Amino acid sequence: MMPRPLTTVCVTVLLSLSIGGLALAQAGKRHEQAVQQKPFGTRDGRPVNLYTLTNANGVEVDAMSYGGIILSVRVPDRKGQFADIVLGHENLDGYIPNPPYIGAVVGRYANRIANGTFILDGKTYTLPKNDGPNTLHGGVDKTFNKVVWDGEPLKGKAGVTFTYLSKDGDDGWPGNLKVRVTYTLTNDNELVIDYEATTDKATPINLSQHSYFNLAGEGTSDILNHELMLNADRFTPVDKNLIPTGELRPVKGTPLDFTKSTRVGARIDDPYDQMVLAHGYDHNWVINRKGGGLTLAARMYEPTSGRVLEVSTTQPGVQFYTGNFLDGTVTGKQGHVYKRRYGFCLETQHFPDSPNHPDFPTTILKPGETFHQKTVFKFSTQ
Ligand code: GLA
Repeated sequence: MMPRPLTTVCVTVLLSLSIGGLALAQAGKRHEQAVQQKPFGTRDGRPVNLYTLTNANGVEVDAMSYGGIILSVRVPDRKGQFADIVLGHENLDGYIPNPPYIGAVVGRYANRIANGTFILDGKTYTLPKNDGPNTLHGGVDKTFNKVVWDGEPLKGKAGVTFTYLSKDGDDGWPGNLKVRVTYTLTNDNELVIDYEATTDKATPINLSQHSYFNLAGEGTSDILNHELMLNADRFTPVDKNLIPTGELRPVKGTPLDFTKSTRVGARIDDPYDQMVLAHGYDHNWVINRKGGGLTLAARMYEPTSGRVLEVSTTQPGVQFYTGNFLDGTVTGKQGHVYKRRYGFCLETQHFPDSPNHPDFPTTILKPGETFHQKTVFKFSTQ
């Protein structure tokens, strides 16, 4: 397959029909809502494309068909100064390999499966282990973060749809699973992520997005001065292998209580058992929700820039991870060294290890059903 030619879909032209979205974004003025596609290298013999989504405010998101990875998110601070607020690399090679899953879509099962095994319809399935005794983020081979997806720019929107067929037996998972992930950038500065999937055999599924944010600008500092609100009265405590014990524990009185906006670093090194086990925050919170609709899960604020990230989702849980395993071995954009806690993830998801916890909301997708989840990252300032 040949790489596609450069494609631009212009939707709203606010300044001039003759000026491209990218040039306008850099000028920091008024912009057109657009998606641009360009060749970005090859992987496994297949072309990889980069898509730049631009909205009317000059906000830009770069995403590529390798791993569905979001490479950059450029948003203004309270003075209108743009910065890139996600960790990442400038080119495809930087992501090969990508041990921290920077920016990627994770699946077939985001987060952990205990002992790399589960039983479905009486049959035991065995998955490759890549996290001590566990399977993390789907396995080792054809996991969604490191395969080449098909990309298709959206017509009439600043968006792109990535599709991928995960074959029956890949990494031990049952069923041919057709997956679609769509990123849409709205003129309200929202990055909307729609997940869809169908299967021909019953299978567990859990999809998430593994972007590491730093609202002060990527690579500038750790994220301990950010202030977080989580709309969650409970979390799923973990054992020493970071597998949920099955308990839904109230956050009240623990360092995991973010029901009121609190500095991320205020309690991160408290001697509370859960903080010690996870070396910081790396837990699944149970989102307070009425019904299955889009619900606010999290609000993160960075006081020096004034940038705010709000995360809404249809999913039942959110993994708040403070980059505890970043250790300075990854060098990202502009030579920035990503040290411990230089980024945070808010991974909307089903609860970890759900296939082994019949009491958790089900993650089993059956033939004839369609899996749908939506997550919205909304960027603003305060
Ligand atoms: C998830 C996990 C973390 C870590 C990262 C990847 O957020 O919960 O423990 O494995 O992925 O480094």
